[in-house]
Amino acid sequence: MKFFVDTADVSEIRAMAQTGLLDGVTTNPSLIAKSGRKMAEVIAEICALTNGPVSAEVTATDFDTMLAEGRYLRAIAQNVCVKVPLTEAGLRTCRALADEGTKVNVTLCFSAVQALLAAKAGAAFISPFVGRLDDIGQDGMQLIADVVQIYRNYAFSTEVLVASVRHPVHVLTAAKLGAHVATMPPATIRALFKHPLTDRGLEAFLADWQKTGQSIL
Ligand code: G3P
Repeated sequence: MKFFVDTADVSEIRAMAQTGLLDGVTTNPSLIAKSGRKMAEVIAEICALTNGPVSAEVTATDFDTMLAEGRYLRAIAQNVCVKVPLTEAGLRTCRALADEGTKVNVTLCFSAVQALLAAKAGAAFISPFVGRLDDIGQDGMQLIADVVQIYRNYAFSTEVLVASVRHPVHVLTAAKLGAHVATMPPATIRALFKHPLTDRGLEAFLADWQKTGQSIL
């Protein structure tokens, strides 16, 4: 399972890359706004920190401008993956960019039939938003189960990129379902490392070690 970090904060991305566990980065217009930086500049900087795909989202809503924005973003670095919303114009843009050899991440997916359309449009990634579905009382992880099953039924190469991930249980369920990728805020990635028994066990080992008066080096 691949781990992407969902942020436009370059220092956070650098820290995540240093763990050796980072496979890519996703951003969206809200995250770019939060960074307070120019989009092209921040995307270029992020692309230099990872060899994996870096999703950069278009902000137009009509086909011609989306396509132009997608081509512009694609030219920033070889690992840019253009993100488009799951609308009719977005999927038309997805097909056009995919036909040019550009990787496309189709975002704002909230139903399995939307995911089916994205695969047919040649998306490299589909981003179903699990947390936002949970927020309105629907089962976000059931959507992942449905999309994984549909993509397997037809051997689509589109990867299921679980987005709007809020906690480690989302990651656990996504992994059990065989989703290809989870994109997470840095705090959620850090939460995956944590277990109280790990902390308590380490504390006891180190206390016992200190009593020996030894040092390894
Ligand atoms: O990048 C898209 C997605 O991961 C956003 O998550 O927490 O704003 O619903 P959230």
